[in-house]
Amino acid sequence: MLICRTERPGDGDEIDEVVYTAFGREDEADLVWDLREQGAISLSQVAEYEGAIIGHLAMSPVLINGEDIGWLGLAPVSVWPDCQRQGVATAMIHAALDSANELDWAGVVVLGDPAFYRRFGFKPAQELDLKCTYPNAGEHFMALALKQPAPTGLVTYHPAFG
Ligand SMILES: CC(C)(COP(=O)(O)OP(=O)(O)OC[C@H]1O[C@@H](n2cnc3c(N)ncnc32)[C@H](O)[C@@H]1OP(=O)(O)O)[C@@H](O)C(=O)NCCC(=O)NCCS
Repeated sequence: MLICRTERPGDGDEIDEVVYTAFGREDEADLVWDLREQGAISLSQVAEYEGAIIGHLAMSPVLINGEDIGWLGLAPVSVWPDCQRQGVATAMIHAALDSANELDWAGVVVLGDPAFYRRFGFKPAQELDLKCTYPNAGEHFMALALKQPAPTGLVTYHPAFG
């Protein structure tokens, strides 16, 4: 059975291996460590199957017009290669969004494939008049307002994103 749960102390190394293997490089795994070390992970979700962590996602605070108003950036999302295309990321994202709602976060942004993220309720951020600092993000920059009214303006990811 697939279990989606929040990260627990001691999960870090296993998460690191999943992120590194999913992306096939160190950048995203290093990013997760940096965020964790800087206390910038607001929500860290793992997917566990038969006692092994096979998926991970992180959410970290973003600023809107330079202010922390309770919005989060979803990134990175990683699933162990052999376990992809079986709904693991979908289950983790649903669970993480439920938690974000319960914990009273105001909204979530993501840089990703619109066809994938639309199914969770994300909309192109430009429809909400939200922009990000990455000039070529285009329709890949998406937003989901958990509370109304939704803000407008410039979204800045945590400095660990470089
Ligand atoms: C992207 C990733 C997290 C998806 O995990 P997953 O468990 O395979 O996803 P799911 O099985 O829940 O969903 C698969 C569906 O989403 C689509 N999808 C998911 N991520 C996608 C992406 N980056 N690009 C295109 N389609 C994607 C698939 O086409 C599939 O669609 P379908 O259900 O209509 O066939 C996984 O492939 C992965 O770890 N990739 C490497 C790391 C990465 O690129 N992360 C995303 C950027 S942060």
